[in-house]
Amino acid sequence: MKILAADIGGTNTKMGICDERGNIEQFKEYPTESLMGGPHVIEKLLSELAAYADYDAIAISTAGQVNSDEGYIVYANDNIPNYTGMKIREIVENRFHKPVMVENDVNAAALGEAYFGVGELYQDFLCLTFGTGIGGSIVIDRQIYRGANGVAAEFGHIVTHPLSGKSDGEGKPYYETYASATALVRMAQQVDSECVDGKVFFGKIRLGNEPLQQILHAWTAEVAIGLASLIHIFNPSAIIVGGGVMEQDELVRLVEVQTQELIMESFADVKILKASLGNKAGLLGAASLFLR
Ligand code: BGC
Ligand code: NA
Repeated sequence: MKILAADIGGTNTKMGICDERGNIEQFKEYPTESLMGGPHVIEKLLSELAAYADYDAIAISTAGQVNSDEGYIVYANDNIPNYTGMKIREIVENRFHKPVMVENDVNAAALGEAYFGVGELYQDFLCLTFGTGIGGSIVIDRQIYRGANGVAAEFGHIVTHPLSGKSDGEGKPYYETYASATALVRMAQQVDSECVDGKVFFGKIRLGNEPLQQILHAWTAEVAIGLASLIHIFNPSAIIVGGGVMEQDELVRLVEVQTQELIMESFADVKILKASLGNKAGLLGAASLFLR
């Protein structure tokens, strides 16, 4: 079986044809242009999907809260304006006349890791991705836990700061406001305006930039706050962290050390693991909706 899978992130969209063995062919990546809004994002998706042939079904992973039974966006925040309510499954089915499944991006990444990656080893784990926002997934007994409305595990929206905390236009006091990759770049820019993205930032870190090193520690401390809270709630065997920024082993180790400082001893054997499929987890996980 061949599945055409797409993974719509806040910054980039990936697509390719996936098979049962976890191979991805004809991989392609393009800018989502999320700020141009949901209808634009989906129009672009349709035109990119149209370049593919010879597949049995289409699987779509996307940022935002997804009703996966019906394949529409329950709610999406300002990372993709006017995305809320979009009936992705219906739109894509009507265009390509193939079965279509839609899943939240991090639920899809968790499925990818569960079937093809480091999650294979664990019954119960959490998955978080740090990108434009922060997404989450709860895997219990190797099943996604969905909650009453199917939208559980919006870890990026847990409140990690007081409402009245900072008022410098950073948005609501959510975990992702302080611990996403976007937040890291924002924090870095306050110290060094040349840090327009993670690449520039980590390039300077590697050259031993002390003030930026401090920013990195302040940011990983924000990351650790969320992880520690989640560990106390779920007592997971493992937490898998993904997103481009987490591809650096030293950074994951730093997060682990800071998290360990915050958790009760009885939780200390939790493993904090780098996502093993890199940016392919979402594609493979979405495809697994058909393949498994
Ligand atoms: C969205 C989530 C999504 C996450 C990662 C958050 O802002 O609310 O639905 O999973 O970003 O893309
Ligand atoms: Na999720």
